[in-house]
Amino acid sequence: MSFWKRANSPVADKPPAASTKGPLAAIENLAAPGSCGPSSGAPSASSKAASEASSGVGIEALGRSESVQKLLSRMERLPSVPALYTQVLSELARPQASIQFVGRLISKDPAMTARILQMVNSAAFALPVPIAEPMEAVLHLGVERTKSLLLLAGLTLQFDSSVCPGFSHEALWCHSLVVSGSARQLALLQTKDANFAEMAYTAGLLHDVGKLMLAANLSETYGQIIDQAARRHIEVSQVEREIFDATHAELAACLLTAWGLPASILDAIAWHHSPARSRDTGFSILTAVHVANAVEREKLLHKAGLLTNQMDFPYLDSLGLTGQRNSWREACGFPVFVVDDPKKERVGLRQAVRG
Ligand SMILES: [Fe+2]
Ligand SMILES: [Fe+2]
Repeated sequence: MSFWKRANSPVADKPPAASTKGPLAAIENLAAPGSCGPSSGAPSASSKAASEASSGVGIEALGRSESVQKLLSRMERLPSVPALYTQVLSELARPQASIQFVGRLISKDPAMTARILQMVNSAAFALPVPIAEPMEAVLHLGVERTKSLLLLAGLTLQFDSSVCPGFSHEALWCHSLVVSGSARQLALLQTKDANFAEMAYTAGLLHDVGKLMLAANLSETYGQIIDQAARRHIEVSQVEREIFDATHAELAACLLTAWGLPASILDAIAWHHSPARSRDTGFSILTAVHVANAVEREKLLHKAGLLTNQMDFPYLDSLGLTGQRNSWREACGFPVFVVDDPKKERVGLRQAVRG
C-alpha cells in the first residue's frame, strides 16, 4: 500500500475520526480557497494576533506549486499520526480523563517512553533532576505540551532507522525542542495568551519535520544538500530551494495538512524561513517560530564568529515589530544586541555585556 494512502489522520484536540482522505487529497484541499481554516477541534486562541495568524491564506499557494507537488511525489515514506497520540486524545476526551492515565498509557509503549524521557531530560529542558517516569514527565510538561511531544517523539521514531549522510535525528529533535520552548516563551511574552503559546510550542516542535522526510526519502541527495550548505555557510533551506525549488518547510506543511492541524500552525511550518510570504498583519505563531528559529541560527553563527541578524527585517518591519528583536533575543537566552539599521546589521553587531 502506498504511503499516500496510509499517512492520514487528523490531529486536533479531539480523537481523530477515521479519514479516507490521503495526502494527495490534502494537497488538492490546499488549492481550494478557505480550505485551510482551523479544524473544529483545534486549539483555540483568543488573541487578535491568533485570529490574524489563522487566516491560512498564504499556504494555499503551496497546493498550486508544481515544484512542491513534484517533491511530494518523490516521498515514498510518509509520516503517520502516532498511535499513542490518538490514544491519549481519546483518553482526554473522556469526562473522567486523568493525567495519571495518560502517564500509564505512555509507559505501556517502551519506545515512546524511552524517547519522551530522552527528550525531557535533554538540555532543552535544563531540569535540575532527571525525570525517570512518563508520569513525572506528564506532570512536568502538562497535558498540552505532552501531546505535542508525543507527536514529535512518534515522528522521530518512525524515521529513526533512515540513514542520511550528515543528518542527525537527535540533532533535529534537540533543535526542535529548543525552538519550541523559545517560540512558546516569545508568544507568552507578546500576547500573554496561554493557548496561543501552546500552539506556538506545537509549531516549534514540528517546524523542521520536513527535514526528516527528505533525509528518509532522498537520503543521498539530501546528504549532498547538507554538505553543500555547510561548505557554503548558508542555510540548508537555501540549497533545498536551489535543488528542488521548494523547501523542507513547504513540504512539511503540505504533508501535515492531512493531519488537520490548525492553519496558524501550518503557516508557521510553511513559512518559518520566509515569513514575508505569509499574510500576517500582526504577531503570529509564525512570528514566534521564525524568530525562535532565527535566534538559534544566530547562536550558532555567533559561536563560529560569523554572527549576523537572521530575522527577516522587512517582515518584522511590516508588522511594526523590529524594535522587539533585542528583547526577543534576550527571552531566547541570547542577550546580543543588534543595531536597528538593517543596512548596518551585517557589520554592526555589538554584544551586550551582561553579568
Ligand atoms: Fe527549517
Ligand atoms: Fe529549524
